[in-house]
Amino acid sequence: MKIELAENYGFCFGVKRAIKIAEENQNASTYGPLIHNSKEIARLDKDFKVGLVDDFTTFKAGETAIVRTHGIQKQELAALNVAGVNVIDATCPYVTKPQEIAQEMSEAGYSVIIFGDAEHPEIKGVESYATHGAIIVNNVSDVVNLNLREKIALIAQTTRKVEDYMEIANYLIPRCKEVRVFNTICHATFDNQDAIRKISKKADVMLIIGGKNSSNTKQLSSISHDYCANSHHIEDENDLDFDWFKNKQFCGISAGASTPDWIIQNVVSSIEENVN
Ligand code: F3S
Repeated sequence: MKIELAENYGFCFGVKRAIKIAEENQNASTYGPLIHNSKEIARLDKDFKVGLVDDFTTFKAGETAIVRTHGIQKQELAALNVAGVNVIDATCPYVTKPQEIAQEMSEAGYSVIIFGDAEHPEIKGVESYATHGAIIVNNVSDVVNLNLREKIALIAQTTRKVEDYMEIANYLIPRCKEVRVFNTICHATFDNQDAIRKISKKADVMLIIGGKNSSNTKQLSSISHDYCANSHHIEDENDLDFDWFKNKQFCGISAGASTPDWIIQNVVSSIEENVN
């Protein structure tokens, strides 16, 4: 079995930065998971005593709260500051940017449309910065049903598929007087998506490694399925099914932006040990 890693995969700039911040702040707690990878979160807890708090109101004055890569809602940040909590911001700068755009465009009178998952913490955070509210859409058919205003500002979740974003922009542009389309998909996402497009075209089995709740891993998996029917989203080596490799020659591997190298290496080693 030939195993090849995509040209770009795994830990992105924002995740590396957040982990470094966490490692430098032992005994602090993150509000919500720092990144979408439970195994890396467990490692931070075990090796650096960085805990996880799910309810921000439980932080007490003087305690340290690390804001996760996906950011938090504007009102939550304000409440933490008012409560005297020492807030350390590990929000990825690629997430801070759409928060700023949402606020600026909303205050300038634009209808803010966010292409993303309404339940994802990043989108809840970005939405909270739109002073006059925002509309969240998950695909172009959600836009078709909207009563569109004249001035639209379009923002994407950082990890979305660019083709889907363009479909929404293409729908809006001929129908509204003014559409401002902000390219808020981050570079890591672009690079990882380009690389998986390339490798999945030639692989006969594809593995996409990452948390099941990781948005960018899900997008990578969706692209991989477009080109390779034998694509599998796994969290680690325990999810492998060696039947996938029967009569196959070339296994391509990619991983989401929150997947540490040690998990990827474990997957590679397991295939090498169990597949001819
Ligand atoms: Fe930031 Fe993009 Fe990573 S938004 S956390 S650099 S996937």
